[in-house]
Amino acid sequence: MTCSILVGGAWGDEGKGKCITYLCDNDKPDIIARAGVGPNAGHSVEFNGEKYGLRLTPSGFVHTGAKLMIGAGVLVNPDVLFKEFEDLKKYNVKERMCVDPRCAIISQDHMDRDVKSEHLAKKIGSTGSGCGPANSDRVLRTIDLARDTPELEEYITDVSLEVNEAIDNGEDVFIEGSQGFALSLYYGTYPYVTSKDTTASTFAADVGVGPTKVDEVINVFKAYISRVGEGPFPTEMTQEEAESKGLEEYGVVTGRRRRIGYFDMELAKESCRINGATQIALTCVDRLFDCARVQDYGELSAETKAFIEDIQTETGVPVTIISTGPDLKDTIDLRKELL
Ligand code: GTP
Ligand code: IMP
Ligand code: MG
Repeated sequence: MTCSILVGGAWGDEGKGKCITYLCDNDKPDIIARAGVGPNAGHSVEFNGEKYGLRLTPSGFVHTGAKLMIGAGVLVNPDVLFKEFEDLKKYNVKERMCVDPRCAIISQDHMDRDVKSEHLAKKIGSTGSGCGPANSDRVLRTIDLARDTPELEEYITDVSLEVNEAIDNGEDVFIEGSQGFALSLYYGTYPYVTSKDTTASTFAADVGVGPTKVDEVINVFKAYISRVGEGPFPTEMTQEEAESKGLEEYGVVTGRRRRIGYFDMELAKESCRINGATQIALTCVDRLFDCARVQDYGELSAETKAFIEDIQTETGVPVTIISTGPDLKDTIDLRKELL
């Protein structure tokens, strides 16, 4: 039995989508539960030559033997969910989906308030998905919940109960966090953050799992850093520098160009500490070093190994997953050796 939580180490877009897909396809957990803020997330999944950009469906959907769940803490936009059911028809996502009755519902009004707010849309650079205004209404205790939403009736399930029963029965549970540590309302670069805490403890609470039940916290970092929206970014490089290194990126939800910077060890240390990380997954290593599609640690250059070992030494957390390309096969999995 293992209950794992995967979290983003920086400002989101660390390549969580690829890591989750790899881990779920490989480990085949019984339940894959989505935690985090809501449909402000954009996870990229490439599987069997097809690309998906997901906002609410757990990225582990590719493992068709798992039940898929959305925990009580996550904001749900039913239109986003139903569109993903259509896009992912061949994976039977609709038939496997469970939504907690306590999830709060994003309405058109929340999206309008997000987009029209000078503060959220301009100053903070929000995603416009309505999450900030929805979480604010939740705190004011005026928002509608999934239990009162007829169109969600067939998916309503007590996610916390199912997840805890699965853990008690010795099944494997995988909890997917979204966003990233530096976007946390508590620990991030306030006010340039999202509308909720985004660390492992909150992701556990999102799906109704107590801290004593969690075995592994996998913290995902990219070999460099990206940030969308406004706010401090100590290791940021110029756009020209990013282009010259081939590190140009655009957002999945908003299409905005991402700001790019160097790996930030101080941020990594703090992120591992507050998340209680037990493992690090490092993605896009091939975009910084010449190691595309390498699947064997021994084939990495001395420079690449030194970079990885430095992260391990500084954070005190083993780098167990090294991603060298978008395909699931482009992964060095050191869990057997290091854990
Ligand atoms: P999360 O929000 O953390 O889930 O990240 P993301 O999935 O949003 O990341 P992003 O939208 O930036 O997508 C990353 C893109 O890079 C996707 O097309 C992935 O398939 C791809 N990718 C993921 N890992 C790697 C990697 O190790 N190397 C390369 N070259 N590409 C990767
Ligand atoms: P909001 O969550 O839409 O209110 O946006 C607040 C800030 O968080 C903005 O800077 C967004 O770009 C950022 N943000 C929210 N979710 C994500 C994500 O999944 N990836 C990257 N940035 C995000
Ligand atoms: Mg993303």
